[in-house]
Amino acid sequence: MSDALKAFEDGLDEVEASYREVLSGAADEPSLRAANAKLVGPEGRLTKLLKLMKSVPGDRRKDLGQRSNAVKNAIKELFDGQLEALAAAAREAELTGPALDVTLPGRRPLPGRLHPITRIKHELMDVFTSLGFDIADGPEIDTHENCFDKLGFPPDHPATDMQDTFFVKGADGNVDPRTLLRTHTSTIQIREMSRREPPLAVVGPGVVYRRDDDATHSPMFHQLEGLLVDENVSMADLQGALQVFLSRLFGEVVEVRLRPSYFPFVEPGAEVDARRPGGEWMEIGGCGMVHPVVFEHVGYDPEKWTGFAFGMGIDRMAMVKYGVPNIKALFENDVRFLSSF
Ligand code: DAH
Repeated sequence: MSDALKAFEDGLDEVEASYREVLSGAADEPSLRAANAKLVGPEGRLTKLLKLMKSVPGDRRKDLGQRSNAVKNAIKELFDGQLEALAAAAREAELTGPALDVTLPGRRPLPGRLHPITRIKHELMDVFTSLGFDIADGPEIDTHENCFDKLGFPPDHPATDMQDTFFVKGADGNVDPRTLLRTHTSTIQIREMSRREPPLAVVGPGVVYRRDDDATHSPMFHQLEGLLVDENVSMADLQGALQVFLSRLFGEVVEVRLRPSYFPFVEPGAEVDARRPGGEWMEIGGCGMVHPVVFEHVGYDPEKWTGFAFGMGIDRMAMVKYGVPNIKALFENDVRFLSSF
């Protein structure tokens, strides 16, 4: 006897002998459906068996085919009968069981609410539009040029390194060194200045990506970029704008401290620290006076135009405003955390 024939006959014997018990053992509809699937579902025993049919010798196919069909029909009949019986039993239990207590309080659906990052983003945009800034946007996948080169980063600057930046694969499957996930929202400065003439005042909130991961760093985080270009803009205008926006955001007078620092696209450049009354200094971003080389790259006359720029961590501001100790909590979507403020 061929192996296939033996396997088929043994398998069929087994299904014939066991299907009744398998189906009648199910105590409710889901287990009945699961038991049925084990027999005739896509991966069921009988289904798999029937796939062997083509290897069964021709003279036996007819008779075994008829037997298989008979089992299949019997299974279907038993399944339908069981399904009905279970439904009837459930109805019966409902009718004769304890009455439904309609005075029990219902389960209240939890109302949705905005994520803290979204909320603070909206608040930031409200504050800045009230100060006369436009809202700008840009893509999360951008070019090396917009993210680094036009902002005055030298080609070998460590920020442009694979260690710090996520590069994107091209259509050929290879990493394309010209296309990346933006590492900061400063790309928005280049995009806005390239398509508009000065004077202008814009802020652009957005998601940025870096290969950083610990309690205060997430590989995906949010920034808000600000840019103002006009004649005779000074560092005092920058400090004043920061002071006003932070105080409006936090609803109390916030102190702002600028610490000299270096960013390729500003001169002079500074880190921005903020302190709420009675609180600790906290670094929230960088800022400075737009570097003339950036104006040249976007076709603005650096002799005529001056400007300030800043970039702030929105997540950092949310942490300060809502007292969140770990940045990861903002992205885990734990409802207990999200509904706590
Ligand atoms: N792009 C900088 C960063 O991500 C932050 C920054 C610093 C933005 C100074 C600015 C600026 O606009 O002037 O670290």
